[in-house]
Amino acid sequence: MAEGAHVLVTRNGYDAIAEKYAELFRAELDDAPLDRALLRGFAELVRRDHPDAQVLEVGSGPGAVSAHLHQLELQVSGIDLSPAMVDIARREHPEVSFDVGEMSALDRADAGLAGLVAWYSLIHVPGPQRQGVIDEFHRVLRPGGYALIAFQVGDDTLHLDEAFGQAISLDFHRLQPDAVIALLHTAGFELTARVVRSPESTSRATKVPQGVLIARKPS
Ligand SMILES: C[S@@+](CC[C@H](N)C(=O)[O-])C[C@H]1O[C@@H](n2cnc3c(N)ncnc32)[C@H](O)[C@@H]1O
Repeated sequence: MAEGAHVLVTRNGYDAIAEKYAELFRAELDDAPLDRALLRGFAELVRRDHPDAQVLEVGSGPGAVSAHLHQLELQVSGIDLSPAMVDIARREHPEVSFDVGEMSALDRADAGLAGLVAWYSLIHVPGPQRQGVIDEFHRVLRPGGYALIAFQVGDDTLHLDEAFGQAISLDFHRLQPDAVIALLHTAGFELTARVVRSPESTSRATKVPQGVLIARKPS
């Protein structure tokens, strides 16, 4: 698949801010009890239904979420668009395997994975490309496999030209749960869980409602 312009600017943006981003968000999960509960629930579903528990995090960034899933006894690996992010993830979490990759064309066989996590990474995919990405998630999951998608809830797109003193061009698309669920249904998923929570007061991220969906590829 030809690489879109959004992919290039997103990679450049995260390469430029990777170290500062990692520093700011390193401990984000420590103060996020509901997020940890949702990740644990996801991990238990995957482990209950799939003994090998092979999971891929797409858009793994500095790797903290993948490392958390590893602690929850999933056989997790991560891919990210940004080589700088992958370097940090490998350095900080050597127990997990991380590679450069792009979520609309995953380097994975059909139906090989028990789980897939897109934790605040689908937010960088423009509307017209989003169905193709969800179809790709469906392709790599085996029947009975689970996808977990986390995102900021809303109708607008936050655009940043600058972050941490670096010139970037990053779009953060807020999403409506029902719109993402429609994409999941079109791809062939069935919905397992739909959660919208208020922002944690301690979070370093933007203070808007946060959505988490878990969906299952039917057996
Ligand atoms: C907001 S960060 C979240 C990182 C990590 N999941 C976390 O919660 O710390 C978004 C990440 O998604 C990656 N990303 C964005 N678009 C991507 C794509 N098309 N394929 C793979 N990774 C992508 C970015 O490089 C960035 O590291």
